[in-house]
Amino acid sequence: MKDSDSSSNVFESTHPLVRHKVTVLRQTDTGVRRFREVVWELVGLLAYEALADLALVEKQVTTPLTQTTGHVISERVALVPILRAGLGMVDPIWNLLPEAQIGHIGLYRDEETLEPVEYYSKLPPADQVDVCLLLDPMLATGGSAVAACNILKRSGIERIKYLGLIAAPEGIARLHEVHPDVQIHIAAADCCLNDRGYIVPGLGDAGDRLFGTKVEEPARIPPVEEQT
Ligand code: PRP
Ligand code: URA
Repeated sequence: MKDSDSSSNVFESTHPLVRHKVTVLRQTDTGVRRFREVVWELVGLLAYEALADLALVEKQVTTPLTQTTGHVISERVALVPILRAGLGMVDPIWNLLPEAQIGHIGLYRDEETLEPVEYYSKLPPADQVDVCLLLDPMLATGGSAVAACNILKRSGIERIKYLGLIAAPEGIARLHEVHPDVQIHIAAADCCLNDRGYIVPGLGDAGDRLFGTKVEEPARIPPVEEQT
């Protein structure tokens, strides 16, 4: 894991498995089923790195051979996906941490302004959360992640780690500027945004690729005069 600047709270994974799997996601010929599987695998790897500082307490256990001192996680983790693409990131971490509470934040980007529009929020009580993983595969302008952190902090949830797959420099800078305390864990930092706010080279629309909702270009119906 590379900390782009040791004081910056931005962690881009350098693990070969992560780099390999991001490359699979980027490819247009990776279909919905494979895309979902690879997101699952990648999120597990990123969560492993992002949760490396979880606190432990000692626990005495009895093995078939003897008694020994083990360790158990002592912090309560909440997973909060940003709808809808973040939903594809919940299960791989929930499998690792079955006690985690799940919150939901509904945001979509206005296609004209690229500003986030909030439509839903249901969060676990802040006094039951020690650390919150905010899940969204794409950090583009950063508007959605900033809005989600605002919502989390308004609810009283303070310790937040953003977990994403691909980020643009603009999104990293905006999230870090508004919420410098939020750790940003990503699989890849890309080059830039295009004029429609998409990450380049990126992977396209993460929600559409996860849920198979990409609308193909409609077939051109020839005008009547051509239909002879
Ligand atoms: C995508 C993505 C992020 C957001 C990132 O969601 O999943 O939530 O865009 O863009 P930003 O950094 O510029 O805010 P989208 O708005 O397409 O909604 P969807 O997941 O419902 O498709
Ligand atoms: N949302 C996506 O799904 N992809 C992008 O490249 C930017 C925003």
